[in-house]
Amino acid sequence: MTDISDAPQPEIGASIKDRTRSPAAKNTEFSDPAFAANKAQPVHRWVPWVAGFSRDFVRSALNRHLHKPGVVLDPFAGVGTTLIEANFAGHEAVGFEINPYADFACRTKLNAREVAPNCLGRAAEDFLEFHSTAMKRKRRPDTQAPEGFHTRGVFYSPKVLHKVLLVHDFIAGINDPVIADMFRLAFASTMVTYSNYSYEPSLGRKAAAGRPDVVDFPVALEIAGKLREMEEDIRFVRGHLSGNSPKAAVFNKSFFDSHDLLNASSVNLLITSPPYLNNYHYNRNTRPHLFWLGFMYSSKDLKPLEEQNFGKFWQTVREDEHIGLDFPIKDSEIFQCLKTLREKNPGRGIYGGNGWANYAASYFNDCHRFSKAAKLALRRRGTALVVIGNSILQGVMIPTDRFLAKIAEFAGLEVVNIHIPRATRVGNSIIQSKVRAAKAGKGQQLYEAVVELRKR
Ligand SMILES: C[S@@+](CC[C@H](N)C(=O)[O-])C[C@H]1O[C@@H](n2cnc3c(N)ncnc32)[C@H](O)[C@@H]1O
Repeated sequence: MTDISDAPQPEIGASIKDRTRSPAAKNTEFSDPAFAANKAQPVHRWVPWVAGFSRDFVRSALNRHLHKPGVVLDPFAGVGTTLIEANFAGHEAVGFEINPYADFACRTKLNAREVAPNCLGRAAEDFLEFHSTAMKRKRRPDTQAPEGFHTRGVFYSPKVLHKVLLVHDFIAGINDPVIADMFRLAFASTMVTYSNYSYEPSLGRKAAAGRPDVVDFPVALEIAGKLREMEEDIRFVRGHLSGNSPKAAVFNKSFFDSHDLLNASSVNLLITSPPYLNNYHYNRNTRPHLFWLGFMYSSKDLKPLEEQNFGKFWQTVREDEHIGLDFPIKDSEIFQCLKTLREKNPGRGIYGGNGWANYAASYFNDCHRFSKAAKLALRRRGTALVVIGNSILQGVMIPTDRFLAKIAEFAGLEVVNIHIPRATRVGNSIIQSKVRAAKAGKGQQLYEAVVELRKR
């Protein structure tokens, strides 16, 4: 990577207000982007996703920016909140998602309209019958647990494992691939509940969070409950949406490789949320799903996903001598921030500031790649809404929203506004983790912003 000097240089983005301190909540036309509300919404409730955003946020964005059918892009689709809402509202939807499980969830949800609810309902009844008979007869499962999936503690107790394997025996016998996918998703979205693991928000042992192991669990009933929810939502969707659905596509590819798949200047509205600068590892955290659904066979399969990911993982860059910005922006604030971070806790070796500065610089480099690719995809006067949270690394507040805005401006996009729909973000954030050294100072809040960009 080309390194750009850490020395202060002339500014760009002087119009983007300083936000090194916590912002106050601002009046905004956008709904709160947090995912929690999705847990009660048709189709969105099928799959919990730690960093998804809310249906209502996407709706408010669509209403504000698209007054006739258009093309909506989500470069970091997750489990598809943007794509589903856009498509159900009559827009063409296109997305990119590197995680094969999230991509699968997204695709299956987008297909909801095509599923015959009666068939799913009947299959769910057959499933319950099959499972209870197999349990009564103490049937030995034909399926085996995925060989390459290893966890420190036991993932499923022997009783739960037996039940789970019988679920997979049933799925293996389903002839209709669409119904089989609904079952696979119903299993995947519930599978951690009956394991000895949970999300805190990273995947960890329940015991470590002070909760008991799961010795036994009504696995088939849990999955049947999820299938009933799906059936209900399919009926709802089919009843509320009329006419032909516009095209919807999600590619299991990195957005950084989107040029072959996405026509230049084809997108009216981009709505997205990239991974935050908080080192959350989507791929490691979905290992159970990736292995059990057969998307991954060995831990080595994680490597390509790590390489494609927006932002590198701290663990993979902390030992590098110096990673700097690889694009020639001249912005004293970004340079000063990286410099301050780099100089923190030199005595702590790879746990000190240099590793975190490498991590932050890699993230900003990807903000630049993203901005260039977004500019290429957008039509003239097309808008990009990027939901992003700030971060605190080694006690240094990083106003990621403003930095992204400056970088996007450098890449040739116009910065229209930075909205703050959530002035306080809670949860297990990077500031609370012991390896992340200094805790946040007073007044250093985590918040969530919507960076509004436009192609000139
Ligand atoms: C914050 S989540 C998006 C959640 C989404 N808004 C939702 O509601 O489900 C970010 C997603 O970006 C994906 N991702 C990371 N790097 C990517 C890349 N280079 N191209 C496409 N997707 C990527 C991650 O796997 C993760 O699912």
